[in-house]
Amino acid sequence: MIIAVDGPAASGKGTLASGLARHYRLPYLDTGLLYRAVGLAVAGQTEGPGFEAAAIAAAKALDAAHLTDIEALTAADTGVLASKVAVIAEVRKALFDFQRSFALQPDGAVLDGRDIGTTIAPDADVKLFIQADSKARMERRARQLEARGQEVDRYALYHQIEERDARDMQNPYGGFYKADDAHLLDTTLLDIEAALRAAIAIVDGTM
Ligand code: C5P
Repeated sequence: MIIAVDGPAASGKGTLASGLARHYRLPYLDTGLLYRAVGLAVAGQTEGPGFEAAAIAAAKALDAAHLTDIEALTAADTGVLASKVAVIAEVRKALFDFQRSFALQPDGAVLDGRDIGTTIAPDADVKLFIQADSKARMERRARQLEARGQEVDRYALYHQIEERDARDMQNPYGGFYKADDAHLLDTTLLDIEAALRAAIAIVDGTM
């Protein structure tokens, strides 16, 4: 069983996808981490041809060892960097095989990202598209960061999320839209447990 979970930054898709993976005992991949790892590899470089070449090289060399420094990977700045490397077609191509083989494991898998239902696993058994308004998303991300002891400037965070949404929406290669056969789940008014219950009900109802 392949479950594809897509949605914008801080929509709660990661929490939902990992909850689904636990519930159905499936391996889980947060594909945003791959783009974040590539973003970290080119942090500090100015955008231009050198930046692109370095990002492509980093994407080609990426393996699981680059996905362990969760604190650096999940920082808000790294999300912005990730969205910059994610518009490079060759970066997306280089990361495709890793994601595709993860999806094709014998028992199945849960993957979350932006283009899982449209590009990585258009053949997924269940597709969810998670949505939440940008204020709610900002507040959730702020609490996540605060829980880790980080100080949060909510105004700056809100703008980072909006900047990322705008870049992601214009990404010509991502297909960052809801697949026609994806179920829409709006989590603006749901807490984690309620959102997970709703997601499980959708999956159970599809199988
Ligand atoms: O999901 P997350 O917020 O961690 O993703 C970080 C960035 O990586 C996104 O803003 C997006 O630009 C990019 N991304 C992508 N395709 C994916 C997952 C993430 O382009 N499947």
